[in-house]
Amino acid sequence: MPFIDRDFINDLSQRVDIVDLINRRVPLKKAGKDYKACCPFHNEKTPSFTVVPNKQIYHCFGCSENGGAIDFVMKFDHLNFQEAVEIVASESGMSVIYDQNARPADPKIKRYIELMSQVSEFYQDQLKHSPAKNKVVDYAKHRGISGQTAKRFELGFAPPGWSNLFDHFKSDQETLTDLENMGLIVEKSDKKGEFYDRFRDRIMFPIHNSKGDVIAFGGRTITEQDKPKYLNSPETPIFSKSKELYGLHHCRKYSRSIDYILVVEGYMDVVALHQGGIVRTVATLGTATTPQHLQTLSRTSNVIIFCFDGDRAGRSAAWKALNVALPVIKAGMVVKFLFLPDNEDPDSLINKESKKSFEERIIKSHTLSKFLFDHIKSEVDFDTIEGKTIFLEKVSVLISMVSYETYKQQLIEGVAKFVGQGIDQVVSVIVKQNQVTNNKPHDKHNFPDDGYEPNVTDFVDYDAPSIGPTKKDTTKALMSKMISLLLNYPSLADGTVEVRVRRIKQSEVLLELIHSAQIDENISQEDLIKPFKNKVNIYSRLKVLCSLEPHLSESQASDEFLECINNIERQQKNALIKDKISNAKTVDEEREVMINIQKGKR
Ligand code: GTP
Ligand code: MN
Repeated sequence: MPFIDRDFINDLSQRVDIVDLINRRVPLKKAGKDYKACCPFHNEKTPSFTVVPNKQIYHCFGCSENGGAIDFVMKFDHLNFQEAVEIVASESGMSVIYDQNARPADPKIKRYIELMSQVSEFYQDQLKHSPAKNKVVDYAKHRGISGQTAKRFELGFAPPGWSNLFDHFKSDQETLTDLENMGLIVEKSDKKGEFYDRFRDRIMFPIHNSKGDVIAFGGRTITEQDKPKYLNSPETPIFSKSKELYGLHHCRKYSRSIDYILVVEGYMDVVALHQGGIVRTVATLGTATTPQHLQTLSRTSNVIIFCFDGDRAGRSAAWKALNVALPVIKAGMVVKFLFLPDNEDPDSLINKESKKSFEERIIKSHTLSKFLFDHIKSEVDFDTIEGKTIFLEKVSVLISMVSYETYKQQLIEGVAKFVGQGIDQVVSVIVKQNQVTNNKPHDKHNFPDDGYEPNVTDFVDYDAPSIGPTKKDTTKALMSKMISLLLNYPSLADGTVEVRVRRIKQSEVLLELIHSAQIDENISQEDLIKPFKNKVNIYSRLKVLCSLEPHLSESQASDEFLECINNIERQQKNALIKDKISNAKTVDEEREVMINIQKGKR
């Protein structure tokens, strides 16, 4: 996204009329020199929200919210700074000046956005005028979508046939190239230069960015036996599944204060809940929740509620979301989980029960800690000492992922209560878990393209993975083996593995792969190694590691992987002890080191 020119921002603040801008959102009444209204940021009956035109600021004497025009729009419209500047400028009749030196705006992006809007209009128009429109109108009715809802979400229809969209735009070659770049038309594999429409005979859901531009589409079959049920736009320069949330624009547009945001699984869930009056709802785009999603969600509301089916798949998706959430939780942010009854999704429920009943479910959603403890408890034999020990160890690994200290403390207290032990005992388990190696956890979550270059020799000495004991392998060989296993079984990656790998020295490449695999466990090998494309040595090494000999079953792969981690941890721990002993200068010091090691201290 291009940067906005600094001078322009200063200029904008001087030229905008804050009264006009706020009055469009909250009707103001004149009170002497100033203007007043009931505060939009807290509940009140007598107006204490004041707008001061000669200072171009607002202030609430009730809740102390205050700021200028841009602050108000950020807060009221739930936008980030850049988005708010763009809105304030456009409402004040000014065009934003971008800082061309900082990062030139890509003229293609603007063209893509304009084209997507035209395509969305084309699909909406087909819903009204296509000769085949009846079946999609019947389908929408059968699913209970009202005309008004269809209009709000700009639902459309990609008619049957291979070239409706292509034909509509074919007179302009540049537009066709853009359509191809947007993944809306696809070149025939056997006839170069000929194209067919990606979306055919589907009800179309445009996907908007938070500003409201159409950036992609999801299309659902109308005939149940057609496959796949949902088809999405591919990743493009304006669309990334791991960042966008379906319905976010509508949620921000139609809710005044977003005191919670509900995250559901499907397009239809968002549409149906919105129609049922639960407008603070978004869906991921058929992928697991990512850290980027959480950043966006936390900017939108302080309370994020993940809503999943109560079945196994739903619980496993919720568990993944929890793993992604733990490191991201910060002050003021609350994450909760809402599990629905078996065989129901939000769409089916809101069509059966009232808005009020659904809202009661929202109120009763589980706290993160309850889900965390219950889930791990269900995995162990909690009524035995051994089971409780495993419980504590597993919980410790997860608590270590939390970076927000106050919350970490609360979780520790919660665990202590849950297992009926003292806080000190819980802390000592966590400390021991953390002492597996002396490595500081590093919080590098970004891909290597951001200028970070791991060393290829960290994992070059590698022999083909073998079943059986691996104790003699060097750390480098073990690392290579883990990479190869992960490249072949991305589902091995989960939060627990991540925490352990993060503590291993020189594990950057593996860690980046784990991150990618957690975002999409069905990710292809090609996509997994793509971020390393510019690092020629690493890339070619990773290509070699893509083949796994001999072939292993998923559970063998998982055993091997864990065995490798155990071995590396053991090696690094031994190295640390050796190091400490050899650094001891006197016999007394050496003895002290030994005593500390026995006590489990560092
Ligand atoms: P309906 O059957 O229309 O009610 O859809 P749903 O939202 O209940 O479907 P489901 O729970 O099966 O899927 C939830 C979400 O996963 C969908 O909204 C899609 O984003 C995604 N999804 C489901 N099926 C497919 C598929 O076949 N391909 C892709 N790419 N995504 C899918
Ligand atoms: Mn459904």
